[in-house]
Amino acid sequence: MVGSLLMYLAALVPLQNYSYIDNEPYYKLARFWTNTGFCPSGEIKRETLKASLFSDEVQMNLIHLAALPTGALTHIRIHWLLKLVKFIQYTQSGVPIYDFADLDAFVLNLNDLELYPVIEYMTDLDGIIINNSDIMDDLWQDFSYQVTKRYLNLLGAKNLIKWQFETWNEPDIHNYNRLNFTIEGFINYAIALRKGIKAAGRISNKSLDLTLRGPAGLFKSKRKHPLCWALIQNCNKHMDHCPINVLTYHRKGQGLASEVLEASRKLLKKIYGNYANINMLPVSNDEADPIAGWSTPQDFYEDVRYAAKLVYIVFLHWHAKLNFREFKYLESISHDNAFISYHPFEFTQRTLLAHFRMNNSQPVHSQFIQKPVYAALGMLSKLAPIAADIEDIKLSTSNDVLWLLKTSSTVNNPLYLSWLLLPGENTKRIENFTLHRHLPFQLCSIETFAYVVELLEKGKTDPAYFWRTQGGSRPFPNAMERAAMRLAQTPRLQASGILLMPEFRLNIGDFQLPWILLLRVCSSFLPILKQPEPPTITKITVGEIFISWYEIANTTQCLKTYEVWFQVNKTTDWNFISENWHLPFPSFQYAPISSCVNGFYKVRAVDIFNRKSNFSDTIVHSNYSTP
Ligand SMILES: *[C@@H]1O[C@H](CO)[C@@H](O)[C@H](O)[C@H]1NC(C)=O
Ligand SMILES: *[C@@H]1O[C@H](CO)[C@@H](O)[C@H](O)[C@H]1NC(C)=O
Ligand SMILES: *[C@@H]1O[C@H](CO)[C@@H](O)[C@H](O)[C@H]1NC(C)=O
Ligand SMILES: *[C@@H]1O[C@H](CO)[C@@H](O)[C@H](O)[C@H]1NC(C)=O
Ligand SMILES: *[C@@H]1O[C@H](CO)[C@@H](O)[C@H](O)[C@H]1NC(C)=O
Ligand SMILES: *[C@@H]1O[C@H](CO)[C@@H](O)[C@H](O)[C@H]1NC(C)=O
Ligand SMILES: *[C@@H]1O[C@H](CO)[C@@H](O)[C@H](O)[C@H]1NC(C)=O
Ligand SMILES: *[C@@H]1O[C@H](CO)[C@@H](O)[C@H](O)[C@H]1NC(C)=O
Ligand SMILES: *[C@@H]1O[C@H](CO)[C@@H](O)[C@H](O)[C@H]1NC(C)=O
Repeated sequence: MVGSLLMYLAALVPLQNYSYIDNEPYYKLARFWTNTGFCPSGEIKRETLKASLFSDEVQMNLIHLAALPTGALTHIRIHWLLKLVKFIQYTQSGVPIYDFADLDAFVLNLNDLELYPVIEYMTDLDGIIINNSDIMDDLWQDFSYQVTKRYLNLLGAKNLIKWQFETWNEPDIHNYNRLNFTIEGFINYAIALRKGIKAAGRISNKSLDLTLRGPAGLFKSKRKHPLCWALIQNCNKHMDHCPINVLTYHRKGQGLASEVLEASRKLLKKIYGNYANINMLPVSNDEADPIAGWSTPQDFYEDVRYAAKLVYIVFLHWHAKLNFREFKYLESISHDNAFISYHPFEFTQRTLLAHFRMNNSQPVHSQFIQKPVYAALGMLSKLAPIAADIEDIKLSTSNDVLWLLKTSSTVNNPLYLSWLLLPGENTKRIENFTLHRHLPFQLCSIETFAYVVELLEKGKTDPAYFWRTQGGSRPFPNAMERAAMRLAQTPRLQASGILLMPEFRLNIGDFQLPWILLLRVCSSFLPILKQPEPPTITKITVGEIFISWYEIANTTQCLKTYEVWFQVNKTTDWNFISENWHLPFPSFQYAPISSCVNGFYKVRAVDIFNRKSNFSDTIVHSNYSTP
């Protein structure tokens, strides 16, 4: 607890003599935006939820989320996940025995994908709570102990310390509060969970400090939302017995990123105004979306507009963390966008991927297209460890601004600069403007510097635009249409090369709004990229596969693109099958029109100096051997 608080404070202390740029303070940039979430579709019944969570769509969606660069997405918050646990019977001493097989299968797979769950304690414990309301607290304490201990044993402390545990989602909403919690019952429930989790942490070798988040509340009026307010009122009175370590709440906008921050600020002001004793509790807006209602179609969800909104939300929170008292202890924000879209809203729901359910094909299967917002998360993952405050670049002839986040490696490491630039929210027009900056290095004979500029641009890196204008918005895009959408799903390689002067110039007047630009500059002293892990192949349908691979953590900042190579059999030549693709993220969908996908695959990474990593190990794929 103390350790984590110090971490939040550290972010606010300018790092003296620590950065390459000395005329402006830099701060440690914690990755506070890497959580996502969703609610499985269908009725809130165990068998329905199980069918949904293990469906090929959900599993494929997870594989895509895991195929972002390392660290782009770390946690996934899934409502009702614990309903997968089945009650079997009581022991002789009255302790419930549960069947965890389904939950095991789901979370072990998640762990293999290197995603961590946010475990929300929202379940009726397979019905036993209702029959035993007198011993509810004991049941919750035992259950949270059993869950925590089980996965600590299965996955070890190294993984469990990264898991997050949270109380019931939005308990004041009747549709969620299926156990009819009373105020007292809810506070006791949270205390019981905390005790169970803590006790499970203590059994581990060196007493893991596992924490509980809550109350995941909407915090509307105290009259309408008594449970959440009562919980923090209780914490304010008895801080020593406060069951939560991170105060979670939900604040969304009405379409604008700035509204998300404003709504959040207003709530935190009110909380701190009334309950001063909890003003050092870390806080998290774990549903920080631009507008409520994931499934309500919105045009902006289709394309670079949503990508830009997500980046604005991140930028505004970074600025707020550095400048506003209310956000000093902001621990994280989460985007609730891991849902799966359905027909006819393929692109227009709040999702990272567009989903096409191919009912017309044999077998019926799902095709996913990565939306620009997915690419934006990939770009954010390339930011360096320390960052300046957001810079507003005023354009001379209008009120419009550009927002620039400058991040850098620290001076004791070779130079790595990563700048993310985009027009301010609601900018309609950008004049002819050239960004011109001096860069913090001196040229010498042994160290060289290279740069790469990547761009997301509306109408260009825009699969939905292609689908609407050339794909006839058809529900079953054919193979060529899908390939065209996928060619448009990653950031475009705009420019790259060696820097001959310590400065950078780029004209940005011609880009169609909105756009997001990532500039990276690397020193040649940064090591050649490590070879990627061998790829994993997931069959999509006949003659079509999804190839993805893990990067070696934080070694890929200077990556330009990946290459995917294929060999039919050991006697034929290797083919460079991704030759015409810019692949800054570790995945590739392979669907050759006229040849078969059985054979051998390997991948390698190319950095911005065009230095190639070693090839990964080779793996073999055969449609006969897949189970
Ligand atoms: C709860 O009680 C009802 C009525 O006694 C019984 O039918 C049901 O099986 C019980 N449920 C559980 C999970 O014990
Ligand atoms: C909660 O209240 C609703 C409406 O009064 C009722 O239908 C439901 O059975 C109650 N649930 C429990 C778990 O008591
Ligand atoms: C505690 O940790 C040490 C070293 O990590 C290990 O050797 C030992 O077996 C562990 N003990 C228990 C009881 O897990
Ligand atoms: C495909 O079939 C499912 C299940 O019947 C249905 O919900 C969905 O709308 C269909 N999709 C399209 C694009 O027709
Ligand atoms: C924009 O400005 C640059 C340099 O200032 C100039 O070379 C270019 O022609 C201008 N472009 C337009 C479209 O005016
Ligand atoms: C990479 O990660 C390791 C371990 O997380 C850390 O010690 C190291 O400083 C990181 N390197 C860079 C360049 O960020
Ligand atoms: C390897 O593939 C080539 C091209 O498909 C084929 O002509 C050849 O017979 C294959 N060789 C073996 C040993 O399977
Ligand atoms: C496996 O691949 C071969 C060669 O492309 C193809 O002829 C066959 O239909 C495929 N079988 C299945 C079950 O997909
Ligand atoms: C590439 O592989 C060779 C041979 O195994 C090894 O010596 C070299 O260190 C590797 N290079 C990198 C950058 O990993």
